Amino acid sequence: MQERLEEIKQNTLSQLATASDLEQVKELRVKVLGKKGEITQVLRGMGSLSAEERPRVGQLANRLRQEVEAAIETKEKELEKQAMQQRLQEEKVDVTLPGVPRPLGAIHPLTAVIEQVEDIFIGMGFAVAEGPEVEQDYYNFEALNVPKDHPARDMQDTFYLTEDLLLRTQTSPVQIRTMRKKEGHVPIRIICPGTVYRRDDDDATHSHQFMQIEGLVVDRGVSMTELKGTLLAFVKQMFGEEQSIRLRPSYFPFTEPSVEVDIRCMKCNGGGCRICKETGWIEILGAGMVHPHVLRSSGYDEKRYTGFAFGIGVERVAMLKYGVDDIRHFYTNDLQFLRQFRSV
Ligand code: PHE
Repeated sequence: MQERLEEIKQNTLSQLATASDLEQVKELRVKVLGKKGEITQVLRGMGSLSAEERPRVGQLANRLRQEVEAAIETKEKELEKQAMQQRLQEEKVDVTLPGVPRPLGAIHPLTAVIEQVEDIFIGMGFAVAEGPEVEQDYYNFEALNVPKDHPARDMQDTFYLTEDLLLRTQTSPVQIRTMRKKEGHVPIRIICPGTVYRRDDDDATHSHQFMQIEGLVVDRGVSMTELKGTLLAFVKQMFGEEQSIRLRPSYFPFTEPSVEVDIRCMKCNGGGCRICKETGWIEILGAGMVHPHVLRSSGYDEKRYTGFAFGIGVERVAMLKYGVDDIRHFYTNDLQFLRQFRSV
């Protein structure tokens, strides 16, 4: 029996020595030390031993069990360490390898202009409002003092969906929506960027779909002077401190008086060129004092309150700022064109 135990130990140790992975060691542990393992098997035969021999063999078996256990553990640790070393070796990161370049997009120039305009007006205390592109005739025309027979309502200019529904031709309906929402309270100080639609033939300067940024201020004592000062501050921040503006009398049904606002032509610096049609000035927005009819029909007492409004042409501003000569570039998703704005 002693010999058998000794034999088991030697066998186990030599098998351990040649074992090359953890799985083999695990199997060996079960085979030798397990419930039905070799050592247990031997101990089962103890019954046939004499009373003196029994404790000796029992002791021996226990010691042997401990020895084998220890040997197996040592081997396991060694193999685990090896496996870890191997993984570290295999998964080593080569920090000198050049990175994989990911293609970087660009902010669309119209988005860039809108964000800049928003920043400037937010800095002057304005909030950003929104309105629907599918609009009711009432908001787009009627409440803006555009009578039923006004030429701007002509089928030529407006995309009608039904008799009463249309694609808004301007962002000005947001003036009405804002005043109605505020229910006669002041101050109102909002801008609203958005897409508008007109039945125009597309060419270098016209598009059937384009963008405007509406502005509206209503309060006590709002004056034309404040309108001019606000727009000048905007233009200087947008186009540079040296810029100046020129107000020309104009007509819009919903403002009185109405103006068109020009900035100095940036191509010729005011000297006159093809871009500015030799005038030295370029129009970028329409504006005026909110018409008393509009105030009244939107719930504001025109005797107590005054206001001004303006509508900025986003494409116009973007074309001037970035030197783009055809409005269609903004809508055709030509990557060569768009990639130029990566640094904007
Ligand atoms: N809605 C006008 C247009 O589309 C612009 C405008 C807005 C004029 C606000 C005056 C006041 O031409």
